[in-house]
Amino acid sequence: MIQLGKYLTFIMILLFCGAIETRSNLTFDEFFDYTEFPTISFSPNGQYLLFETYRAAWDSNSYESKLWLYDIQTQKKTVITKNLGGFLNPKWSPSGNWIALTKTENLATHINLGAHDYRRSTASDQKSQQYIYFYSVLSDELVPIAIGTETASFVTWSENDSSLYFVITKPPLMDEEKEKPEHEHEWNDVIEYRQRVKSLTSTILRLDIDDNDPRLSTKINTIKNVDFLIGELLFTSSERKLILTSNSPLVEDLADFEIYSIDLEEPFKLSRLTNNQAFEQRLQLSNDGKHVLYQQYTRTPIDTGFNDTQRRLFSFDLVNGSIEHLAKDFIGNIVGHAIDFDGSLLIRGQVGTEVQIYRQQSPTEQSNYITGWTGTYEQIKLSSKTTRSVAFVYSSFERPKEVYLTNDINELQSAYPITNENQLFSDREMPRAKVYNWKNDEDNAIIEGILHYPPHKFEAKNLPLLILIHGGPYDASINAFEANWYNWAPLAASNDWLVLEPNYCGSTGYGDQFVDQIRRQPLSRPGRDILAAVDRLVMDGIVDPNRLAVGGYSYGGFMTNWLIAQTTRFNAALSGAGSLEHVSAWGTMDLPLIFTHLFGGFPWVVPHLYQNQSAIYQLDHVRTPTHIITGEGDVRVDADQSYILERALHTLGIPVKLLLFPKEGHDLSNNPWHGKIKVREELKWLRKYGHQSWFPKKQ
Ligand SMILES: *[C@@H]1O[C@H](CO)[C@@H](O)[C@H](O)[C@H]1NC(C)=O
Ligand SMILES: *[C@@H]1O[C@H](CO)[C@@H](O)[C@H](O)[C@H]1NC(C)=O
Ligand SMILES: *[C@@H]1O[C@H](CO)[C@@H](O)[C@H](O)[C@H]1NC(C)=O
Ligand SMILES: *[C@@H]1O[C@H](CO)[C@@H](O)[C@H](O)[C@H]1NC(C)=O
Ligand SMILES: *[C@@H]1O[C@H](CO)[C@@H](O)[C@H](O)[C@H]1NC(C)=O
Repeated sequence: MIQLGKYLTFIMILLFCGAIETRSNLTFDEFFDYTEFPTISFSPNGQYLLFETYRAAWDSNSYESKLWLYDIQTQKKTVITKNLGGFLNPKWSPSGNWIALTKTENLATHINLGAHDYRRSTASDQKSQQYIYFYSVLSDELVPIAIGTETASFVTWSENDSSLYFVITKPPLMDEEKEKPEHEHEWNDVIEYRQRVKSLTSTILRLDIDDNDPRLSTKINTIKNVDFLIGELLFTSSERKLILTSNSPLVEDLADFEIYSIDLEEPFKLSRLTNNQAFEQRLQLSNDGKHVLYQQYTRTPIDTGFNDTQRRLFSFDLVNGSIEHLAKDFIGNIVGHAIDFDGSLLIRGQVGTEVQIYRQQSPTEQSNYITGWTGTYEQIKLSSKTTRSVAFVYSSFERPKEVYLTNDINELQSAYPITNENQLFSDREMPRAKVYNWKNDEDNAIIEGILHYPPHKFEAKNLPLLILIHGGPYDASINAFEANWYNWAPLAASNDWLVLEPNYCGSTGYGDQFVDQIRRQPLSRPGRDILAAVDRLVMDGIVDPNRLAVGGYSYGGFMTNWLIAQTTRFNAALSGAGSLEHVSAWGTMDLPLIFTHLFGGFPWVVPHLYQNQSAIYQLDHVRTPTHIITGEGDVRVDADQSYILERALHTLGIPVKLLLFPKEGHDLSNNPWHGKIKVREELKWLRKYGHQSWFPKKQ
């Protein structure tokens, strides 16, 4: 018996040790099987939570999304429909009996419709029948209603289930009533550029249906044609108005971005509500429908002081037209908002690397922090006054994204997950991360960043370093669990790199002044911030100075191109969609206004700055083998920039490789394989060049 006892103990020790050892490292393939939750919304009576899951569908070279209905009482969830592509903002009908949805097989081209279409020839496009779908909560049926050959977007229900409003974008080039140009038949497929840009206009339509069964009777009425693209659309029943934003595929003039209303009583009169040098986005109605809340931020070529360079929250009074600045005291970046059952304001605010929830009881009061878990609250939705549920999507460095529920917004920490889509990531030995600070002595600024350590090597010393630089520049690396081709720090750490994500000057979450200071030194100042981090990490013994690599996408690509021209310290570089010569980048990109803001003027006003900050003129200093990738159809940072970099490095005899992804824009969202191949090849490049210097260093 004694012997058996010993034997059992022995087995238990083995099992115990086994339990510690069984958490295996995340594999490359597993990393790309992360699930996102693009939308969550409560039914009007609060009985159901609707949510969408979105993940790569490798067999079909696409993404698959599913819509789920979660019953709050029974805690049961069911998939109500699935689709290759995505659902565009599913909308509950006022009674909660129907969910209206539009879907697309290709999210990339839909989201960037304007951005893509102003350059691309549409002459040969096949026109196919488009639909708005009605999901019946009562009968679990999906009813398609044909709406013509243009895609519907921004669906918003009227006061009852009998009608809804939606928007279509239609270039008047197709318009039969338009005056025909001379020699019309000879023009054929020729694009007149500026006319094409201007020609992207919108039509608001109303779809009347039989609310017992939309198949029984449908009628489509044109409400209004407007001579701009619409960015958002909301119906307010108390004011009987449609509220909308104007938008443009080219960000050249802030006057193209304003809020408008259409009065449904006064035969569809269009009024402009804002008139300012700012972008307005993410409209939301107050509980009484008499105010519209919106986020606003400015980017002007001239100096305005450093006001509102981060996202701010405003409220427009639809009755008397007054505008109020909400949560004025909040120092960070406001990324989301919701209205509590008592009418008080809830904001999701980014401060440093955290995105937390704050409450402002009334417009004149201070905003107060609501204690939550450290990390990132990605969305927040409240149900009805009677059910009082709160749902959010949450993640942190060590907890993958899931949807959570709680009955009390003030008890955020008592929330429980209702999904389990990313369990795999909890079962793996994930890298641990922490916030790290350093000082840029030259500018006397404290800069913050995130360190991701390889598994089992938390706070180890003398590690090889990969600096992974975020895009924007008006963005930040945060305490969230991200796993995709853009945010792949955990994967690089799992491949034995210490990863630093620096929140360089220009990043949000550190006050308006920190954002503003990047102006007129858009590459050199962040460059100094980042190189100061390398010095500090080496000085602290954390990093091996002979094994340094750098990479980033978009503005992170700009910075990568800049940094390899400033120092030969990096053994390897990963450049993604980065600008190298900023005059041509300004001239070809869809956001030229951002450049005139960053440089403080047009190229002919401050030519010395455009030249001083362009890496192309300093490329003879480069010794770093560089891997380059770009989407072939990128209208944000034209692929030309990557060709220029490739040619220059090739000419200089520096190892270089350029990968082009066909049918991809700036967000590489068309085919999930492209992002996966990007990261796979970048990891190979790091293995090949990252661990030793490619050229013989003097000394
Ligand atoms: C829905 O609202 C419209 C406009 O107020 C009204 O004409 C219609 O009768 C309503 N339908 C139902 C079913 O209540
Ligand atoms: C910026 O803020 C300051 C102080 O709050 C104010 O005096 C100034 O008018 C603001 N500037 C702009 C352009 O709004
Ligand atoms: C508009 O109405 C609100 C609330 O009723 C009030 O506080 C505000 O002063 C009014 N503004 C104007 C310009 O009348
Ligand atoms: C997991 O990764 C760490 C760090 O890269 C490595 O040291 C360890 O050997 C790996 N474990 C397994 C089981 O592969
Ligand atoms: C850019 O401007 C700074 C400040 O005037 C100067 O020190 C630096 O040498 C310039 N760099 C180049 C490449 O012209």
